[in-house]
Formats: sequence, C-alpha cells, structure tokens
Amino acid sequence: MSDQQDARLAELEAQVHALKAELLQAQKVASVGMLATSITHEFNNILMTVINYAKMGMRHKDAATRDKSFDKILAAGHRASKITTGMLSYAKRQADRRETTDLISLLDDVLVLVEKDLQMHRVRLETRYEHRPLSNVNASQIQQVVLNLIVNARQAMATGGTLIIGVRANTEEGFGEITVRDTGCGIPAEQLKEIFKPYFSTKTLDAQGQGGTGLGLALAREVMESHGGRIRVESAPGRGTAFTLKLPLAGVTQPVVSVAVPLPIPTPVA
Ligand SMILES: Nc1ncnc2c1ncn2[C@@H]1O[C@H](COP(=O)(O)OP(=O)(O)OP(=O)(O)O)[C@@H](O)[C@H]1O
Ligand SMILES: [Mg+2]
Repeated sequence: MSDQQDARLAELEAQVHALKAELLQAQKVASVGMLATSITHEFNNILMTVINYAKMGMRHKDAATRDKSFDKILAAGHRASKITTGMLSYAKRQADRRETTDLISLLDDVLVLVEKDLQMHRVRLETRYEHRPLSNVNASQIQQVVLNLIVNARQAMATGGTLIIGVRANTEEGFGEITVRDTGCGIPAEQLKEIFKPYFSTKTLDAQGQGGTGLGLALAREVMESHGGRIRVESAPGRGTAFTLKLPLAGVTQPVVSVAVPLPIPTPVA
C-alpha cells in the first residue's frame, strides 16, 4: 500500500471512530427521552408531597407535626436531587476514560431513573446482589448498555411482569456479571442470532415516535467488546429473556448478602 493510501486509511479509521462516538452519544440522549414521561410524573408526585406537607406544617403549629412535615419535604427534595443528578451524569458527554467502578452503585444510579417507568408499566423490580464486584470501566457507557437492556425488557413485558437485576462476581472466569432478566415475550430461536446486528428490530415506533431503530443491542455489544467483556443472551419464548453482561473483574469488595449474626443475649444486670 502506498503512503498516500496509508494516510487515507488512517483518516477513514479516525472518521469511523468519531462517528461511532457520536452515534453512542445520540443513542444515549434518545434513551433518556424514553424516560421523559415517567420522570415528569415522578417530579409531579414529589412536588405534590412538598406542597401538601408545607400546607400541613403551616396549618398545624405544634412542633411534632412541623418536624414531620420538614422531614417529608426534605426526603422529597433528596429524591428529586438524586434523579436530577442521575439524569445529568447520565446525559453528560464523558471522555473515553475508565475508572475502577463498583458495579452495584453504577446500577443503582440507573435504577433511580427507571423505577417510575417500570411502575407505570406494571413491572415489579427485584434486585439480587450476591457480591460487590469492581471493574475498570467507562461507567457512563456501561450505564447506557444497562438502560438499553432494561428498556428492552420492559418493552417485552407489554402487560407487566417482573424485572430481576442480578450482580455477582464470577471469580472462576474473572468477570463481574450483571444480569437483566425479564418475564416477557422471549425471543424465538431463529431471531437470537440476528438481535445484535445493527438495525435489526421487531418493533415499530411508539406513540412518542421513539424506539425501534434496532441499534440498542448492536451498541451494547460494541461497548462490551471494547471493554474486553461479553454480552450473552438466553431466552425461552413465551417465558422470558436474560441478558448477561460480563466485565473483567478488578476486585470484589465485601459481600453484599449479609450473614445474619445472632445478637448477643444481654446479660441481665443484677
Ligand atoms: N428482553 C427482550 N425480550 C424480547 N425481545 C427482545 C429483548 N431484547 C431485545 N429483543 C429483540 O431484539 C431486537 C433488537 O433489540 P435492540 O435493542 O437492538 O433494538 P430495538 O429495541 O428494536 O430498537 P432500539 O433499541 O433502537 O429502540 C428487538 O427489536 C427485539 O425483537
Ligand atoms: Mg432496544
């Protein structure tokens, strides 16, 4: 290959890299859009709590009622701030930088954004955290992958169901694993090999004109591979689907499942 061709190839590679980063960012903003309705509802509920407890505190002058009102207003304020912080950090354009990250707190930041959406679609959320694995990741990209899986899971449970999020450290294989399991429609065997291909989708645009681009899983696979990780799927048509994200393990902090330690029996004071 001539020097000129080499230079042209390098230029094209740089362009592809830049366009992929743009696509990832565009898809991220679109996925936040999916949550706009539920987050607006949630803010409305929070504001109703603030307004009602403020009124109650003004009507009742006794200290106990006022303390309770302030507590409720404060808790509502904290919840609102958790959601806005989550939204801002999620939507922020993050440099391609990796940090050792606790996979459970990464997940919790995503769950705070989707809780209301799941509730509105009659989906019960269950978390099963076995360990607290650490992995060297670009947290924002992994959150985007998790959000894509959760949105897919919710869309697969049209009449409601259960979403189970699991976390474990697979020390034999050296991976921290996040599993997103649903009790939805499942994926027919002949489609399983298609779902990670760009633009493969069985969905149509929703009422808000969103979804169905078929890019969610293609980007998920790309992000996982760039992290030296994997994405795996198992599905039983009519019963549900489980996606597992495997990320190279960088350590495990203390186990999450606390072993019940019997309380010491107090010795009676004579
Ligand atoms: N949890 C799931 N249950 C059932 N089918 C699924 C699930 N996740 C993905 N699929 C199938 O895989 C296809 C591709 O998913 P992907 O997320 O890539 O695209 P999409 O959801 O159709 O569109 P987009 O994510 O761009 O809005 C879906 O159209 C659906 O047929
Ligand atoms: Mg999708």
